[in-house]
Amino acid sequence: MRIGILRPYEVEFNPGDILDLKNAIERRGHRPVDIYIDALEVQIETGSVRVSHAVGREVPQDVRVPGAILRHLGISRDFEQLLYRVWAARALEVCGVYVMNPVTRWLIAGDKMAALIELSRAGLPVPPTVVTENMFAGYRAVSKFRRAVIKQLRGAMGYGVFLVDDPDVAFHIFSMFANINKPIYVQKFLEKGAGDYRVVVVGGRALGAVYRRAAIWKTNVAQGAVPEPARLTPQLEELATRAVEVLGLDYGGVDIAETRDGYYILEVNPTMSWQGFKAATGINPADHIMDYLLEKLRK
Ligand SMILES: Nc1ncnc2c1ncn2[C@@H]1O[C@H](COP(=O)(O)OP(=O)(O)O)[C@@H](O)[C@H]1O
Ligand SMILES: [Mg+2]
Repeated sequence: MRIGILRPYEVEFNPGDILDLKNAIERRGHRPVDIYIDALEVQIETGSVRVSHAVGREVPQDVRVPGAILRHLGISRDFEQLLYRVWAARALEVCGVYVMNPVTRWLIAGDKMAALIELSRAGLPVPPTVVTENMFAGYRAVSKFRRAVIKQLRGAMGYGVFLVDDPDVAFHIFSMFANINKPIYVQKFLEKGAGDYRVVVVGGRALGAVYRRAAIWKTNVAQGAVPEPARLTPQLEELATRAVEVLGLDYGGVDIAETRDGYYILEVNPTMSWQGFKAATGINPADHIMDYLLEKLRK
């Protein structure tokens, strides 16, 4: 079988994960196929949707794979470009390709606001958060939280996530956000000690946990945190699997902070990079993701 790996042509994000996936596909006797989201052509007619693939002037080939792993849709600065890429992936699904994670689920999980709403609705513990376009509301939120973490709705690897404890400094930043039509995402800073947990869930099952120990408050491996193997307690397991289930994901990396008041889900990464997890635990999520995809395709 040919199994697609869906991502942008322009930049290879996290090449180690792509290599792990390709190896996992080959070890199972199948063939990995590059599907570049920015190389697709979607043809829509009455009763038919077709998707073909060509980089530049290449001869377009129909995309013929039963399944594909969605890894990245690139960094879009244009609203329509992001939407186009989401719906191009959706067109693949309509053509019968099982996209893992399904693209609309990927879209929601990767959006810090949308995901938090769903997790909160399901009764899962999330940090108190205010999202608004009103800089006065942002000011009030920072005053209330005292220490606040400011984030982008879509972001990764800790980039652009910053801490503020002075509402007036925050107000300046929020007024600049307002000038560029950027929403304001303010979250209460959680006292989580020296790190937090990352639990990897595939096919409804938690594979393991690492503790991401950091010298600073950000625990992204990309920001220098070192993952250590951690015990997957029943509580961590339950929280992580529920979070992934609530968001409708086939796999995900769940970040969980432990505070004096208990655990909080910081986020669920629908296309997490697993190099740190793999090194710390010896578990290769790519193998589990591929087994789960093949199981889905057999049904
Ligand atoms: N509310 C918070 N309180 C304390 N630390 C936080 C909070 N939110 C995020 N962090 C820290 O910042 C890091 C990056 O934030 P996160 O929301 O995970 O964004 P990203 O998508 O960039 O990883 C987290 O891994 C965590 O260590
Ligand atoms: Mg994170």
